Amino acid sequence: MGANLLAERAGCGGFIGDSGYLSLFEMLKNKTARICVMGLGYVGLPLAKALCESGYHVFGVDPDSSKVNSLVCKKSYISSVKNCEVECMLDSSRFFVSCDFEQAIFSSDVVIICVPTPLTQNRDPDMRYVLAAMNEIANAAYGSGTKLVILESTTYPGTMRQIAEPILRKSMGEVGKDYFMAYCPEREDPGNKEFHTNSIPKVVGAADRESLELAASLYGSVVPSVIKVSSWETAESVKLMENIFRFVNISLVNEMKMIFQKLGVDVWEVIEAASTKPFGYMPFYPGSGIGGHCIPVDPVFLNWKIKSSGMRSLFIDAAIQLNEDVENFVVGRVAYGLDWMFGKGLRGSRILVVGVAYKANVNDFRESPALNIFKKLNDRGAIVNYYDPFIERIDDAEESLSLNGVRSVELSENYLRSQDAVLICTPHDGVDYRMILNNSKLIVDSKNVYKNVSAKNIVRA
Ligand SMILES: NC(=O)c1ccc[n+]([C@@H]2O[C@H](COP(=O)([O-])OP(=O)(O)OC[C@H]3O[C@@H](n4cnc5c(N)ncnc54)[C@H](O)[C@@H]3O)[C@@H](O)[C@H]2O)c1
Repeated sequence: MGANLLAERAGCGGFIGDSGYLSLFEMLKNKTARICVMGLGYVGLPLAKALCESGYHVFGVDPDSSKVNSLVCKKSYISSVKNCEVECMLDSSRFFVSCDFEQAIFSSDVVIICVPTPLTQNRDPDMRYVLAAMNEIANAAYGSGTKLVILESTTYPGTMRQIAEPILRKSMGEVGKDYFMAYCPEREDPGNKEFHTNSIPKVVGAADRESLELAASLYGSVVPSVIKVSSWETAESVKLMENIFRFVNISLVNEMKMIFQKLGVDVWEVIEAASTKPFGYMPFYPGSGIGGHCIPVDPVFLNWKIKSSGMRSLFIDAAIQLNEDVENFVVGRVAYGLDWMFGKGLRGSRILVVGVAYKANVNDFRESPALNIFKKLNDRGAIVNYYDPFIERIDDAEESLSLNGVRSVELSENYLRSQDAVLICTPHDGVDYRMILNNSKLIVDSKNVYKNVSAKNIVRA
């Protein structure tokens, strides 16, 4: 398709701006296109690495000078990119990193935006970062040649058409002619040992056929397959669909956990047996809630978007409620364990939370249920600490949690013996669970770390 379009364009039926499309297409084909990645976080840095490894010159920009300085010193700050990989990128002379947006955008042929899309305090989509990035591009791109602009940040359907394109139009002209635009949702899964940025298929939706072909050509040289969809809105919705599916299903299995516990049935055994069905069942696993920057956040985007049309998703509403319920359930199981083992309550009890990241083997605690549980235990008068080999200190957590500045304790036999209860929230690899088992008075296990261990001091949560 790309080649056909190229052939069409090379014929006599072209129009002004064709030369921009043709030269961009050529540059993508022979990898001489220079790519600016805006936002070097959990998504942007692995993407910059994948682009760099596949032969492109990449300008990584981020306003956070501590991230930029860290990369300049060849140090990664996210667990899925190793220090030696940052070193390789810099040594290849194909990776440049800075806080200078203007220069990087001006000098690039493609700009890919990977900025945060969190929720505001009122739990509405916080589009500040996307707006800022679009404005930065609009300001810096003027007079710099034809560009392809791609948004990868998760967002609600309509963002590209209603927010992004009108900003760029002001200084960049007509999309599909003077510049090109696509939406390609990020599908990064930090900590996943099987799939990495360059092995996950990409879905692309674009403003027009030209933009679609350019974006598909770029990603086609980096990932195993590119799925072209018919519109921006479809691509925006694909991302929400994927994460709403996970949100609802994890919430469902958490609800089943709470129900089966009342029935005296082990949910983990149920899941293991149900998973033997070769069709029609896909296992999801329970825990202490749902966290991260995406799964609990993205469904709220859709709910926000449809509210103005008088609609709501019953499934999303129920899943949000269940996420809160399961955190309370885990707190309740700690209280139950203390009462059952020692006849005491939460107030004044010393509790160690093991694992505060939102999932195993990552150093990301955004929206982590473990932090909410930490706060809930604190509010009930418990003396709470945490151990997490991935998170030395809690910084930039939500103010209302009052946890900023709290540091991970050192895990030792003596420390464990000093605690009334140990609550396993996030099951990182490499933690000495045997030492925990042998030295703790009470363990509350929300992740089935002690599967098949029938010790008297374990309470399943
Ligand atoms: N983390 C994930 O696993 C994941 C997975 C899929 C999708 N996403 C989505 O990808 C997007 C990025 O998420 P993330 O986890 O990488 O966030 P992040 O906070 O780790 O990184 C975003 C980076 O963007 C930078 N930034 C902010 N404003 C900027 C600007 N105007 N220009 C350039 N950089 C700017 C920030 O300083 C930060 O370093 C979000 O929309 C998120 O929902 C994340």
